[in-house]
Amino acid sequence: MTATAYAPDHAEKLIRARRATRAFGPDPVPEDTLRAVFSLAGAAPSHSNTQPWHVEVVSGAARDRLSADLVAAHAGKRMSLDFPYRDDLYTGAYAQRRHEAGAAMYGALGIGRDDHEEREAFNAESLNFYGAPHVALLFLPPNAEERMAADLGMYGQTLLLAMTAYGIASCPQGLLSFYADTIRDSLGISGTSNNKILFGISFGYADTSAPINSITVPRAELHETTHFRS
Ligand SMILES: Cc1cc2nc3c(=O)[nH]c(=O)nc-3n(C[C@H](O)[C@H](O)[C@H](O)COP(=O)(O)O)c2cc1C
Repeated sequence: MTATAYAPDHAEKLIRARRATRAFGPDPVPEDTLRAVFSLAGAAPSHSNTQPWHVEVVSGAARDRLSADLVAAHAGKRMSLDFPYRDDLYTGAYAQRRHEAGAAMYGALGIGRDDHEEREAFNAESLNFYGAPHVALLFLPPNAEERMAADLGMYGQTLLLAMTAYGIASCPQGLLSFYADTIRDSLGISGTSNNKILFGISFGYADTSAPINSITVPRAELHETTHFRS
């Protein structure tokens, strides 16, 4: 049997073109493009094809309301997480990479290490979805654990690549999941349906003039992450 090769040069370009974008223009994505992109994302693989994800795509007045609610929750320190977070989760090389990514970001913004006020303002802007006209919120069922989170990760990256293919810029945002109750209240999501949020994705068209969008963060060398055995 001969394997079909699907244009590896296109894959190389597509995968490497995706970047976390943190400044957007106001133009919304047309409705038919939204449908095409989210349909494509649904082709992601999952354990036994269970497709345990539920996605809320929030735009327009609902998006503005949600952002205002998130900023207020942040100011009032009203955090609520469905999946636990520990600051000491990242150690060694992971802590180092995290530090370098933060330094690249704050460096591009001209924000110093001890400039807490400016950092705070940037955090608040991230709860305004970095100015993006849309945000997708990614939920799992109430009994979800690591295996379902893997499925949602597959869905998330498939969605990001589908967006990239259509010229749509994006930023996955774990921070949004720190305000799970606020999100549920703002969207009127309740009951026992798929309502546990793992992360969100802000998306729209990139503001190409914003310095924050010009940063690139490096990747580990292949041998650091991958061993080939035979
Ligand atoms: C699950 C997940 C959560 C993330 N959360 C945030 C976030 O809360 N805020 C943010 O600005 N970027 C967030 N990012 C973006 C990462 O910082 C970014 O993907 C990483 O630094 C690599 O950069 P690149 O996407 O430009 O290649 C997140 C990425 C992922 C995959």
